[in-house]
Amino acid sequence: MTFVSHVSCPQCGATYGSEGVHNLCEACSGPLLVDYDLDRVRGAVTKEAVAQRAASMWRYRELLPVRDESHVVTLGEGFTPLIPLSERLLLKDEGLNPTGTFKARGASCGISRARELGIKEVALPTAGNAGGAWACYGAAAGIRVHVAMPSDAPEANKLECLYYGADLELVDGLISDAAALVTRGIAEHGWFDAATLKEPYRIEGKKTLGFEIAEQLGWEMPDAIIYPAGGGVGIIGIWRALLQLRDIDWVTGDLPRLIVVQAAGCAPLVKAFDEGAEVSEFWPRAETIAAGLRVPKALGDFLVLRAMRETGGVAVSATDSEILGAMLHLAKGGISAAPEGAATLVAYENLVQAGVLTSRDRVVIINTGSAQKYPDAMRAALR
Ligand SMILES: Cc1ncc(COP(=O)(O)O)c(C=O)c1O
Ligand SMILES: [Zn+2]
Repeated sequence: MTFVSHVSCPQCGATYGSEGVHNLCEACSGPLLVDYDLDRVRGAVTKEAVAQRAASMWRYRELLPVRDESHVVTLGEGFTPLIPLSERLLLKDEGLNPTGTFKARGASCGISRARELGIKEVALPTAGNAGGAWACYGAAAGIRVHVAMPSDAPEANKLECLYYGADLELVDGLISDAAALVTRGIAEHGWFDAATLKEPYRIEGKKTLGFEIAEQLGWEMPDAIIYPAGGGVGIIGIWRALLQLRDIDWVTGDLPRLIVVQAAGCAPLVKAFDEGAEVSEFWPRAETIAAGLRVPKALGDFLVLRAMRETGGVAVSATDSEILGAMLHLAKGGISAAPEGAATLVAYENLVQAGVLTSRDRVVIINTGSAQKYPDAMRAALR
């Protein structure tokens, strides 16, 4: 079902065969990305055929990395609604995914490919939601999942890991400290490292956000997409998805401006973007109510910065009080937004105010999760 051609390193250009188990680039330790034989995809499937398929992210299977359909672990992820908030502003509601966040996309794809490769145990550090999603899909696949997360991560994230039968380690620190613990566990037990961008398949699941946005807009590009970035995998995925769609001629024209929002208390990508830097620096004392954005240094920072610069995007930050205000504002319209998702509305409003975006621009904001996973933030918003 797939047209994967190989796996390559965007940092040094090394390429690897698509079969076998991959983690980081052996030459430069950069993240690896999956490439497809797009000429063959163009000849093999049409957008009309895709439109007839089930409403799931797996409808784009030719551009996903799983070879055998029987390995796909699916629980209803993807094809979430694109809800108009006003005439030109649309919200992609990812809270409707299994486990209540867009992390289900990455977990569905990552766990499916791990199953295909015969992997029995995976380990990952997480800010919270990815741990819950991998625990859930691991349970569905019969793959053992080891999760390390900050001890002050949202309660729902700790509980869902245990609930789905994962092994959970709490770390007194941030996702970066959890990562160090996972690395030790991997060296000791030989688990597969499923950390963000340390294997090439999780991002492929998140990429489907880009396919869906284009399809739901009638195969047209919006003018801008606003994404709340922690590690930034979603925005790198959307960028690659839209480039692939353009390469197979399913969409035409300029890519949308890819805009990143981070929390004011942890904004390494915003700082790097403003300084014209190619990589970000470790952000000390990261703190925000948007737990998923508490990523002090992202492995794929150079790709996020490239995606923004090549598309005329920008990076902005939102304060916790702005985020709580936006959560409540969305709730008044019937939308359940995680703090991370609400940050995209803050960014939109501030960018319109600043004249960077205009009310004529068709903009998609991504609500990456539902408010229900954050009872503490809901309570804080009500105060
Ligand atoms: C709800 C939510 N939104 C956004 C993010 C950021 O995702 P990424 O690290 O892929 O940028 C996370 C990450 O944990 C999250 O849980
Ligand atoms: Zn490399």
